[in-house]
Amino acid sequence: MVINIRPEIQLIGDTIISTRRDIHKHPELSFQEHRTAELVATKLSSLGIEFQKGIGKTGVIGDLIGNGDGPTIALRADMDALPIQETGDVSYKSVNNGIMHACGHDGHVAMLLGAAEILSKQKNKLNGNVRFIFQPAEEGEAGATYMLEDGVLNGVDQIYGVHLWNYQKTGTIGIKPGPIMAAADEFEITITGKGGHGAAPQGTQDAIVISAHLIQALQTIVSRNTNPLESTVVTVGQINGGYNFNVIADKVVLSGTTRAYSEENIQLIKRRLNEIIEGTKKTFNCKIELNYMDGYPPTINDDKCAENVLKSAKKIVGEGAGDPYLSMGGEDFSYFLHKKPGAFFFVGSAPKDLEPMSTPHHCSHFDIDENALLIGSSLFVQLIEDLLIKN
Ligand code: NI
Repeated sequence: MVINIRPEIQLIGDTIISTRRDIHKHPELSFQEHRTAELVATKLSSLGIEFQKGIGKTGVIGDLIGNGDGPTIALRADMDALPIQETGDVSYKSVNNGIMHACGHDGHVAMLLGAAEILSKQKNKLNGNVRFIFQPAEEGEAGATYMLEDGVLNGVDQIYGVHLWNYQKTGTIGIKPGPIMAAADEFEITITGKGGHGAAPQGTQDAIVISAHLIQALQTIVSRNTNPLESTVVTVGQINGGYNFNVIADKVVLSGTTRAYSEENIQLIKRRLNEIIEGTKKTFNCKIELNYMDGYPPTINDDKCAENVLKSAKKIVGEGAGDPYLSMGGEDFSYFLHKKPGAFFFVGSAPKDLEPMSTPHHCSHFDIDENALLIGSSLFVQLIEDLLIKN
């Protein structure tokens, strides 16, 4: 496997890795990224990059003004950690109880700051500008939407975002046009029937029997309503109801999640969920309430921008650049892609000597192969040079 880490990134490699370890050791939850934002601002300031804090609450943006009237390219890193107690034994283990960088966002910040350092030294060669976006609250709080409200993409022509990806080996970069992350919604269904004696069901409306029918019927959305060539998920993950073995339950609460790679499919699932519930209500003459919570929309890459990433990625990892390992996870980068053309890509970071699935994202022993940081930084620099320096 050929990996061409850019020489200037190699020179600051130790700094990129120590920045990541510093952030890893001091993780902060969504919208509480104060220390991280300060670290980012201090670094941008030392590089002579104009910055603004407080964009989207705790976000930071930096503007590198180049030479010429070319486009403005935004590069985005998310900054927040998760409410997980770290169990791994590393020298840079989290010192914040119950909080951990278990998704790799610490690395995203370090990679983007590394790229900013190199790009700041060659701004006079850039025919256009670079906006560095350090986003808060990706983990469920939709930090991207708060940044958008504060105008983070005003004047931006294209946007690119990265995720370290332990499902892929170091030395690979995953990129494709079209959908790359799923829409991820949540639902809660409350079935209200009429309870009674377990030995005298006449006159009752058994919420447990009704929920059994409903759960079965919901499985037909994926198996019978959506196109089998397009991935979708309907999961009922929780059932709560009942009192005793000889009591007919008057109430059951179900909760679950729906996933799809397109807006059409997530809308289809939502519509069928409503229709099946309406039908079940009539069939069993009971009350059923649905609380459907829209999550992040699907992350859909622009064809041309995905092609740009692939071209630059090939210069860094050669044949290691190509189709990503896909999951049905959600990502709020999707909101940026609703506003501007861009692309989201994965940098393989499975820890050395371990199988890609042994340290999944969001697990308490999560860690990355830090060589991946240099690959990610190299790709950011390469991408900007390819887009903004005329050869
Ligand atoms: Ni993440």
